[in-house]
Amino acid sequence: MTSSETGEVRAARDEEQVTRPTVVVHRDASEACAAISRSIAEAVALRERAVLGLATGSTMVGVYTEVVRLVGAKELDLSDVTTFNLDEYLGVDRDDPRSFRTFMREQLFEPGHVDPTRAHFPDAELAASDPLGAARAYEGMIRESGGIDLQLLGLGRNGHVAFNEPPADPASRTRVVSLAATTREDAASTFGSIDDVPREAITMGVRTILEARRIRVLALGERKADVVRRALEGPVSPEVPASHLREHADVVFHLDAAAASLLGSD
Ligand code: GLP
Repeated sequence: MTSSETGEVRAARDEEQVTRPTVVVHRDASEACAAISRSIAEAVALRERAVLGLATGSTMVGVYTEVVRLVGAKELDLSDVTTFNLDEYLGVDRDDPRSFRTFMREQLFEPGHVDPTRAHFPDAELAASDPLGAARAYEGMIRESGGIDLQLLGLGRNGHVAFNEPPADPASRTRVVSLAATTREDAASTFGSIDDVPREAITMGVRTILEARRIRVLALGERKADVVRRALEGPVSPEVPASHLREHADVVFHLDAAAASLLGSD
């Protein structure tokens, strides 16, 4: 701050920090995935035994493919990282091909040589009988690890982050939630039919996510353009859980041109 800066200017700058996160619009999806992969490599280089918060979803497939390439090229070593995934379905066995655990094992942990004993998920099995116990245990594990250095995030069409469906309390922590209709529709192809999609999940809360030291969001394709606009340019509101990411001091939204296409349009 310069000595001549007025209180008003300072307030405007603070306001800007709250409402204008860094947004990077990439030429294409692979460039966006490469940028996120570089953030992962930086986080791993920055702290011994770095703690990564990981996300599932089709958007992340390109990121994990690139990360695995970096590991294969010996440009990145994940053997010492601790990971915490955002969420898991209730009522889906851990080895079920549709569990998030299986997705992560196939996409990243096995090919990227992540130690499975240091790869954590909220315990969906325990959550079915003891939701509070499972939630507290996960929060405790994150705390004991020293906190998440870098959290990756995708966006749900309805503005959810992880499985924090609207309206989502910004003070929420890990808990069992009911899935929104749009979320279940989006998962129907994975489960065969909408009736087979679980109705509940256990998810990190909005507050849990905001406690990560750095957050990197990835949104790709026209399908995400409207939620990107609402997250970045609409009011910060529980109705759009992703809008609360603007309250974080170190968040970057990586977008492709299609996902960014509605920004600045009104
Ligand atoms: C699920 C996950 C979210 C993810 C979202 C988007 O709902 N719980 O963490 O961001 O899907 O998925 P996709 O990347 O397939 O659009």
